[in-house]
Amino acid sequence: MVARQAGLDWRVFASALAAGIERRPGPRQTEMMRREGRIRRFAGPPGSARRRRLRSRPVLGPVLVTVVTVYRRVRDKRDDARLALQRAHTDFRNRRARTVPNITRRNNRRAYERVYGDDNLLAEYLAPERVAFYEEVAAISADQQPRAVIDVGCGTGNLLRAVVEKAMPERVVGIDYARAGIERARELVPSGEFRAQSLYDVDPVESFDLVLCTEVLEHLRDPEGAVDVLVRLCAGSGRILITVPDGAQDAWEGHCNFWTQGELEELLRRYGGVEVSRMRADPKSLLAVVRP
Ligand SMILES: C[S@@+](CC[C@H](N)C(=O)[O-])C[C@H]1O[C@@H](n2cnc3c(N)ncnc32)[C@H](O)[C@@H]1O
Repeated sequence: MVARQAGLDWRVFASALAAGIERRPGPRQTEMMRREGRIRRFAGPPGSARRRRLRSRPVLGPVLVTVVTVYRRVRDKRDDARLALQRAHTDFRNRRARTVPNITRRNNRRAYERVYGDDNLLAEYLAPERVAFYEEVAAISADQQPRAVIDVGCGTGNLLRAVVEKAMPERVVGIDYARAGIERARELVPSGEFRAQSLYDVDPVESFDLVLCTEVLEHLRDPEGAVDVLVRLCAGSGRILITVPDGAQDAWEGHCNFWTQGELEELLRRYGGVEVSRMRADPKSLLAVVRP
C-alpha cells in the first residue's frame, strides 16, 4: 500500500526490504561487535582507513598489533572461564532441584518416603511410560492366571492395582519398606494386604503362584539374598516375574547393580528355568520370568 502510494514497483520494494534485512547483523555478528567494542572504538571498524593508518605506523603499529592480540587472548580466556562457571552453577542448581531422580539418587528408604508422600513428586514418578510399563507387566501376569500374587517392593501399589484389574487374583499382597508407599497402596487396592517392611525380613511361610519384583533388584546391596526370598515365596508351580533396567544401557548413580541381558540370565539360572526378554513399554528394561 505504502509502496504503491509512493509510486514504487512492489518487486523493487521487496528487494530493497530484503537487502535491508540481509544487511542487519545476526546474533553472532552482534556478539562479535560487542566483544570487539573496545578495539573498534580505539582503532575503528575492521578494514577502516584509521586501522590501516595505525597498523602502518613504524614501531607503534607492531606494538599495537601485539597488544591487541594479547588483549584478545586474555579476553577469550576470561569469557571461557565465566561460561564454565555459569555452567557449573546451572548444573549444581539442576542437581538440587526437587525432582524424583535427584531425590532417589540417594537410593535409600527416606528418598522413597519423600517421593511417595508428596502428590507432585508422585505424579512425576507415575509418568505415562511407567503406567504403560505396569499395564504390560499386568497383562503378562494375567497370562499366568494367578490365584495369589505378591509384589515385593510394591511402592504405591499401582502395579498390583493393574494386576487386580487384569488377572482378578483371589489374594494380593504388597510389601515395601517405604511406609508412605504402603499407605497409598492400601487406599489404591482396598482388597490387598500391605506391609511396611524390608523384603529381607519377609517371613516365607506363605507361598504365592506369582511373585512380582519390578525395578527393585538394581537398588539392592544384596540382590542374591533378595532373589532367595523371592524363590522361597514362590509356590511349587509358580512363577517369579522380575524387571530391571538393562545394565548395558543404564549407568544411573541411584542404582548399584547393572546386569546385561546375558548377566541377568546367568544370575537367575541358578534358581530354575529362566527366560529374559525386553519390555515393550520400555526397551531399556529387561523382563525375566523364573520357574524355580
Ligand atoms: C524404583 S522403586 C520400584 C517400585 C515399584 N516396584 C515399581 O515398579 O514402580 C524401588 C522400590 O523398592 C523399594 N525397596 C528398596 N529396597 C527395599 C527393601 N530392602 N525392602 C523393601 N522395599 C525396598 C523402595 O521403597 C521402592 O518402592
